[in-house]
Amino acid sequence: MRTLVASMLLLAPALIAADLGGTWMQEMAGRGGSQPRKTYYYFKVQGNTFTGSMVSTSDRREVTNGKIEGDTITFESKGPFQDAPQQMRGTLNGEELTIMGAGRGRGPGAPPAGMAGRGPGAPGAAAGRGPGGRGFTPPVFHKISAENKIPADLLPSHKPLPPITSALPPNGLAKTPPMGWNSWNKFRAEVSDKNVREMADAIVSSGMRDAGYIYVNIDDTWEAGRDANGNIQTNEKFPDMKALADYVHSKGLKLGIYSGPGPLTCAGYIASYGHEDQDAKTYAAWGIDYLKYDWCSASGVYTREEHAPAYMLMGKALRASGRPIVYSLCQYGMLDVGEWGAKVGGNLWRTTGDIRDSWDSMSHIGFDLQPGREKFAGPGHWNDPDMLEIGNGGMTDTEYRTHMSLWSILAAPLLAGNDIRSMSDSIKEILLNKEVIAVDQDKKGVQGTRVRKDGDLEVWKKPLEKGVAVGLFNRGAETARMSVKWSEVGVTKKNPKVRDLWAHQDLKAGGEYTVEVPSHGVVMLKVE
Ligand code: GLA
Repeated sequence: MRTLVASMLLLAPALIAADLGGTWMQEMAGRGGSQPRKTYYYFKVQGNTFTGSMVSTSDRREVTNGKIEGDTITFESKGPFQDAPQQMRGTLNGEELTIMGAGRGRGPGAPPAGMAGRGPGAPGAAAGRGPGGRGFTPPVFHKISAENKIPADLLPSHKPLPPITSALPPNGLAKTPPMGWNSWNKFRAEVSDKNVREMADAIVSSGMRDAGYIYVNIDDTWEAGRDANGNIQTNEKFPDMKALADYVHSKGLKLGIYSGPGPLTCAGYIASYGHEDQDAKTYAAWGIDYLKYDWCSASGVYTREEHAPAYMLMGKALRASGRPIVYSLCQYGMLDVGEWGAKVGGNLWRTTGDIRDSWDSMSHIGFDLQPGREKFAGPGHWNDPDMLEIGNGGMTDTEYRTHMSLWSILAAPLLAGNDIRSMSDSIKEILLNKEVIAVDQDKKGVQGTRVRKDGDLEVWKKPLEKGVAVGLFNRGAETARMSVKWSEVGVTKKNPKVRDLWAHQDLKAGGEYTVEVPSHGVVMLKVE
């Protein structure tokens, strides 16, 4: 009996090895305006190891280091824009092979959606990322051939894009970091004409408009297909984009929209590939004031050298559209975007993967992943550590105050991501703290930096037109006593004026200040 079991166990890998070689396909129907997607894997098996490739409607990767153990496979998958491969695993159940990322919890600041196996057509997209979907069912692949049968025309082709030779001149917009609201963090695919109008109303009635939150930005999932002339169409959630823009404008607000340089957006909707000029003109005709342009599926079609030029295409198209449109690059900080983001016409660019509504995600992105980027920020061109999660429920008010303070010290865009219609008074107070907003919006336009880090305790400063903003941050689990000397933050005056921007009080302080800072909390000061 023991030998029988042992030999069956030994036989198992050989069985799956024979089964695994060849092409596997997964097909996903389009839902609610997203496009149908196909993903192909080709595995070339040698003994109990394998290599191969993955190509989907919007992505391509090499498969390396494949190993077969019983009915389980593990491998690495790497696209042209990833510095490190993603670990993947699969399980064979009869005729069906499920494939997904190994260790699915995405750490804070982890590789971004489109680049981490969650883009359209990529493994994991099936249920993990579809419109609005937060649950996850691993995609199921079926074997279609023992040969390599990945269709050659799955991804569109193009003439290689020329390298960038000269920078676009500044468009004169976003002299201070853009402020407003964006639908994605809270609403995902639930965004609609109706809730955008309601949000615009609430931005006005809550006082947010008057505090500077001007842009009302529709994120992914508004798109339908194209008409016979190639004009982008809105889906049933947005019956009349021009009328919506008129409404938003009538409230003294501006309207933003979302697309990307690839064939599909991150949620699998039609993007601007091959239609850049046409889309920019359509946006202008609708009255759009802001475009977030998300890389995602462009990994399937462009090379590394074409990455910045692909952003330049839309940068030029927006300039030629005849309407001032803020240009927001969303490519998760790849390829040193700070070095070229402004040259391609960008007013802001994301620096990391997607933020989540958690202390770990927010604090890691804000504290750990921004230092060093300050040299790229200034009036008209900003680093974007992603949209605010304030009010979405995953952090405490203390943590949300830290979020607001840190983003303001970073001169980050302040795009609220909560349901403005129903926010509590305490969340309103955080988003509407005018003294903190003034730090973010300071005309000098300098991104703040860390002055000192003692374990979990960090002191940050942001030079202002008049004086300097100082953040005393406690990332630790216990309340801590923190001190700062004005000389450390560049203030030479003997007895400067010191104000606590959350307590809204002037303080009596000599050459330094000592205060208790709660766990995950902040004391934010203005010293002048
Ligand atoms: C990416 C972006 C997000 C959001 C989604 C929409 O993940 O980083 O901010 O726009 O796509 O699909």
